Amino acid sequence: MAEERSYYLGTHDAETIRLGVQHRVWRSHVLDVWRRAGITTGWRAIDAGSGPGHATLDLAEIVGPEGRVYALDRSDNFRNAIEAGARVRGLANIDLHSVDLGTDPIPVAGVDVVFIRWVFIFMADPVGVLKKLAAALRPGGRFICHDYYNWGVMSWTPQQPVLAEFVETAIRDWLANAGDINVARRILPALPEAGLRLIEARPITFCASPRDFAWQWPKTFVPAHARRLAERGVVSAEWADEVARAWNAAEKDPRTLMTTPLLMEILAERV
Ligand SMILES: C[S@@+](CC[C@H](N)C(=O)[O-])C[C@H]1O[C@@H](n2cnc3c(N)ncnc32)[C@H](O)[C@@H]1O
Repeated sequence: MAEERSYYLGTHDAETIRLGVQHRVWRSHVLDVWRRAGITTGWRAIDAGSGPGHATLDLAEIVGPEGRVYALDRSDNFRNAIEAGARVRGLANIDLHSVDLGTDPIPVAGVDVVFIRWVFIFMADPVGVLKKLAAALRPGGRFICHDYYNWGVMSWTPQQPVLAEFVETAIRDWLANAGDINVARRILPALPEAGLRLIEARPITFCASPRDFAWQWPKTFVPAHARRLAERGVVSAEWADEVARAWNAAEKDPRTLMTTPLLMEILAERV
């Protein structure tokens, strides 16, 4: 249970599966920014808050046997999942570190790239963590972050009032119990004080119909998160059921289009 409580969304198998769907939806964007950052064979990379390692394993394949990926996370379950994935994909260039990014020092230095995705949203002091991670880069090393800039962009047409209520409730609860879900707005202006020079900030949102693969990503989150909020007593079980019904109705309606939360892709360089 202590392991479960250590991460707002849990470290159970369902979360590992959700993170896998999420990675497959985002994979082409991630591969593209890694290519633009210049990541190549032999690079040493930090994957900060690696989770079960869906990105870690892809990164390890790119940097190859002469390179190294340092996966930092405080979850034992997730680190075990990376070990299993590395065995399946025959990768021996990943170092797993049990690190609390909020309180622990970064265990490696002089790396070529730091990648951090969907982690600052859980940090009490995201700018402090940014500074620690930037200090682990060699001069000229790359910093790549994928995190939310405006979660409230998530919406449905035709309009779904219960789902709109879900978005507002989730943002409020996130802020009270996890961190700032629109944290990219804090990271961008803090880059210079962390010794980083912005190369490019790119906002990304998808407009998905239920027939698109991208639909599968919020599908693994919205009804399950409403249920989690009900289990914690934040909302009623009836309201969580209403959210699930509204989701199913939207999914069945051939006119439905959904905009996903606005994420900011940040590519920067250590000066
Ligand atoms: C939404 S998941 C993202 C996982 C991965 N970056 C990805 O893109 O699939 C957030 C991750 O941050 C980790 N995390 C949250 N707070 C942390 C902390 N204080 N120190 C280290 N890891 C943390 C969680 O254990 C989880 O693996």
